[in-house]
Amino acid sequence: MVSATVKADVESGKLESQSPEQVLRWALETFGSRVALASSFSAEDVAIIHMLVAINPKARVFTLDTGRLNQETYDVMDKIREQYHLTIEVMFPKADAVEQMVRERGLNLFYHSIENRKLCCGIRKVEPLNRALATVDAWITGLRREQVVTRASVKKVAIDHDHGGIVKLNPLADWTWEQTMSYVKGHHVPYNVLHDQGYPSIGCAPCTRAVKPGEDFRAGRWWWERPEQKECGLHVKH
Ligand code: ADX
Ligand code: SF4
Repeated sequence: MVSATVKADVESGKLESQSPEQVLRWALETFGSRVALASSFSAEDVAIIHMLVAINPKARVFTLDTGRLNQETYDVMDKIREQYHLTIEVMFPKADAVEQMVRERGLNLFYHSIENRKLCCGIRKVEPLNRALATVDAWITGLRREQVVTRASVKKVAIDHDHGGIVKLNPLADWTWEQTMSYVKGHHVPYNVLHDQGYPSIGCAPCTRAVKPGEDFRAGRWWWERPEQKECGLHVKH
């Protein structure tokens, strides 16, 4: 549980006007090894890694390897690992749960119903996330308000009631896509090459496709579902 002092700091709103680096510094000074970045190695996440490592080279980063990621995502993970000498905490889903799910519903179950899709996200992402979050008092994400309607009011720092009252930090909450890419390129941070191939938002390979010019930022994620359903349960409880 977070202390009353930390809770007061969070609820005062004073961090909302701070830069991403200032928010991250506050997080590392306040929580030490009890804070970690959840990274899918999106442009947002690699920008945050660059900032985090400059503040503390031992900052914690975990990733949820669903077993269905694109090769390009594994490529950028290894590039980041090498360039920043970073130990990435890779979380895998429970093998027995995946085995039972695909035995009963097939390998491509997510296309058949919302229920199947949420089951797959639950087993491959949400359960491993909960295991990772059991080791921290605060987590950092690359959420931005601009990404999608369901994120329009995310704060830079908030108490995360969906995850037991720990602190959730979204240091890039008010950044645009252009600001993010310009930071990444300007600092020579390795990024997922799919971003240059029409993929602004990247999740699992079978559930992500390129968007056409003018299409919404997340139009390529679970493209067969309606926009308000397009959350996998990491940030919005199902
Ligand atoms: S999702 O909920 O739709 O999958 P999105 O891809 O937009 O999320 O990513 C938003 C943030 O969630 C990322 O910046 C990252 O902090 C976290 N995140 C998403 N996917 C993963 C993952 N596979 N591993 C770790 N963190 C993730
Ligand atoms: Fe499964 Fe698709 Fe969710 Fe990945 S995004 S966990 S493949 S349903």
